[in-house]
Amino acid sequence: MKPVRKAVFPVAGLGTRFLPATKAVPKELLPVVDKPLVQYAIDEAHAAGIEQMIFVTGRGKNAIEDYFDIAYELEATLTARSKTDILATLEGSRLDPGDAVFVRQQEPLGLGHAVWCARDIVGDEPFAVLLPDELLWNPGNPCLKQMVATYEAKGGNVLGVLEVPHEHTGRYGIVSPGTVEGRVTEVKGLVEKPKPAEAPSRLAIIGRYILQPDVMGILAAGERGAGNEIQLTDGMAKLIGKQPFHALTVDGDRHDCGDKAGFIQANIALALERADIGPDVKAFIEKL
Ligand code: UTP
Repeated sequence: MKPVRKAVFPVAGLGTRFLPATKAVPKELLPVVDKPLVQYAIDEAHAAGIEQMIFVTGRGKNAIEDYFDIAYELEATLTARSKTDILATLEGSRLDPGDAVFVRQQEPLGLGHAVWCARDIVGDEPFAVLLPDELLWNPGNPCLKQMVATYEAKGGNVLGVLEVPHEHTGRYGIVSPGTVEGRVTEVKGLVEKPKPAEAPSRLAIIGRYILQPDVMGILAAGERGAGNEIQLTDGMAKLIGKQPFHALTVDGDRHDCGDKAGFIQANIALALERADIGPDVKAFIEKL
């Protein structure tokens, strides 16, 4: 079984729900407390043993490349002023040479299309996909790491899922379940955004995937699905029955930071955990 060494980060979406903030700043660089969303996803990938980070970007997203580069002037100034503690905060934002690859998706034709844009860099290896606007929070045992353990046990494809309220199934890709072993559910089918009455379960896909490269060949057909977009869910569904396919109910908190309320909740939840600002934030919320 080949190890999962590469991860694809689709960051080419328009982020329309955050306009006007995202007019000039990519959604993925919006901060949760003091770290951009994309940094949380990179940290999670590193913790899972991922070596190469592949970003699928679009126009207006150049700031993401700059973010992962060296900031010469800033670093020289901080060094000259002996601000070692502040310098340390920049460490995770510098990726090793060759470990960050950027490809363009010229038009946001859908998540499936964005992933397909990375096909030549992914090559013939299993790979992870992380949507940085989904913040999955379990610092002790990051979610992709949990999924890699499931991949090592089961092989094939592994989806990160969480149980959502019945009335919310229409917002997600939903798993049609087979055999269940603890947190691992065999995937028999996938349905994109089903109405509650038609949903085969409450297990929702939450922006973390481990996939076999065969999905790229399926996505190449460019078939349109829900919203007239090239859907990753539809491409993955075609691998079911041909390869092992499991869903792992991850252990962690999920904050949908592509949504305004979810983004604010993430900031509050993570701020409250911080020793430096948590007590002040708590006192302020209580006062409110
Ligand atoms: P979303 O639909 O949540 O993101 O896509 P969006 O389009 O940027 O945001 P809104 O809905 O307009 O506010 C989920 C993820 O897939 C990426 C997005 O960048 C986001 O990380 N994506 C989506 C692409 O890279 N390309 C696409 O064509 C579509």
